[in-house]
Amino acid sequence: MDFEDEYFGTAAQITVSRRARDLWKLVRNDPRFSYNGRIVAVAGDVGDETADKLAVLARLQGSTTCHFLPKEKEEIVQRSVKKQGLATNVWEFCKGGKLAYEMAQDVLTQYQLPSDLSVTTLCESTDPSFVRDFALMVGECGVLVMAGRVMRGVDIPGITLAAVDGSGKVIASAWGYKCYHPQSPFSDHAFWGGLTCHVDRRGQKIALILGALSIVQLWEKLDVRGVCTGIARDNTASFALCEKLNVLKSDQIGLGVSDPKMFQGATLTK
Ligand SMILES: CC(C)(COP(=O)(O)OP(=O)(O)OC[C@H]1O[C@@H](n2cnc3c(N)ncnc32)[C@H](O)[C@@H]1OP(=O)(O)O)[C@@H](O)C(=O)NCCC(=O)NCCS
Repeated sequence: MDFEDEYFGTAAQITVSRRARDLWKLVRNDPRFSYNGRIVAVAGDVGDETADKLAVLARLQGSTTCHFLPKEKEEIVQRSVKKQGLATNVWEFCKGGKLAYEMAQDVLTQYQLPSDLSVTTLCESTDPSFVRDFALMVGECGVLVMAGRVMRGVDIPGITLAAVDGSGKVIASAWGYKCYHPQSPFSDHAFWGGLTCHVDRRGQKIALILGALSIVQLWEKLDVRGVCTGIARDNTASFALCEKLNVLKSDQIGLGVSDPKMFQGATLTK
């Protein structure tokens, strides 16, 4: 199977994912860009051209993000892309290094998943109906999943975890993708997160444990040495959870840039 058509979300989100996958085929050898299965993003500040690169990517795909944008550039880059008729949103760019790995190990020593849950890693042989159920549950939590080929670890190195109950129902998610070019300064980082938990099972440390497991696996299986994630400034639950894994606010942001005709809310995902 080639999973060429495994895209999820609203019609606009699916359009962006399809365009991103094609665009990635053109720019994958350029260390300034990164593809995580949702969009082609700009990986860090690329100098005077940052705003222009973001505007081009947003127009081509419908949406894009700048990862690792220094906070002092937030205003000037936003002003420039808004002048071009585009909409913006800001995520705190939270990061964790060795201490995050160590805290994740501690979490796994301290807590266990409820006994009815088991963990599955998405891969090439995962049944497409399971991937759809996974995407649905994560989507109901307000988070957009990646293209199937990325979640299955086909297009870029990565790990996508699902906690599943005894009846096969997807209960929680966590993931991380080593999506930065080998010559980028972020090459040993994974874009991490995707922490969700079914509304009926919240408050049982399920997302914490799955998040910890994903960090440990990224470190040990994929030689990741740093994780990063964008968190909306009002998502206090997510900040609190990430703090427990020592994934903390940094002096950088993730700047989302979208075509307002496609994304009236200005943001591709939570
Ligand atoms: C955020 C979310 C994943 C938490 O799932 P969960 O399994 O209930 O979380 P856990 O039980 O593992 O909580 C671990 C810690 O996270 C923090 N936390 C979780 N939910 C919280 C809430 N509603 N408010 C404040 N802190 C919260 C707490 O520090 C908690 O530790 P504690 O129980 O000792 O207080 C879940 O609420 C969710 O799916 N939300 C919607 C999706 C989302 O916003 N994901 C983050 C995307 S960036």
